[in-house]
Amino acid sequence: MVTDLHSNYSSPAGRECSLAAARFALLTPASRVLDMGCGYGDGASNLAREFRCKVTAVDISEENIEFARSLAVERSVSHLITFAASNLLNADFSKEPFDLVLAEGGVLSFMTREKGLSLANQWTAPRGWFAFSDLVLLTEKVPDEVKRIFEDEKYHYETEASYRTMLAAAGFDIQFLCLVPQSGWDNYYAHMARRLEDEKGFFADKRIKLAFHKEIDVFYRLEGFRYVGYLFCIARKVR
Ligand SMILES: C[S@@+](CC[C@H](N)C(=O)[O-])C[C@H]1O[C@@H](n2cnc3c(N)ncnc32)[C@H](O)[C@@H]1O
Repeated sequence: MVTDLHSNYSSPAGRECSLAAARFALLTPASRVLDMGCGYGDGASNLAREFRCKVTAVDISEENIEFARSLAVERSVSHLITFAASNLLNADFSKEPFDLVLAEGGVLSFMTREKGLSLANQWTAPRGWFAFSDLVLLTEKVPDEVKRIFEDEKYHYETEASYRTMLAAAGFDIQFLCLVPQSGWDNYYAHMARRLEDEKGFFADKRIKLAFHKEIDVFYRLEGFRYVGYLFCIARKVR
């Protein structure tokens, strides 16, 4: 069921996940948050609006940052958010670590997970909070048609168990971990279906349109949801 018709998240972990992370971290207007791979900026705007905290929102895509900036203006929180269009792999925030670091929507997979977790740890203040969401495989027996959509030469997905091991190795202690409910996927694909009507930008490309139509088809018609899940985790830095 679509529960958030206006979601701009480009992942199944939406508004509730960002807010849950912020509540664990007890954000206040004095808090500082880093949004790694902020996409269209819904997470950054939601936190700034709800908690009046300061957010640094980084994404490698200029187009996404431009959209995120306008969203922040529309929601009257642009003065609370610092946007940067840059590659996180070249960034260094270790001198001024954050109270909460968010890595929603599989940005860890784009950065390679161990590297992403190691950077997230360096950028989280001592005893600070880290929250992420990412695609995981739910079973070893995934039909080829489903596997081809969600995995390729570049992306081989983790499982809940392998993420638990990586988090412990990276110095994080898990405080909350769940699979995103079906409504999260429905909100995500409803947003993607809206974007597939775009006539300019990333989603205007015919190949992107076809790829997303296929993914949506495989997820629902071939019941991809039985084999892939979206893991959401809130963790605390312990070393
Ligand atoms: C699936 S989107 C998730 C966006 C957002 N966090 C959300 O949940 O809606 C992943 C984002 O990570 C960004 N990204 C990927 N690699 C990155 C990198 N090395 N540095 C900064 N951003 C990156 C992409 O441009 C994309 O916007």
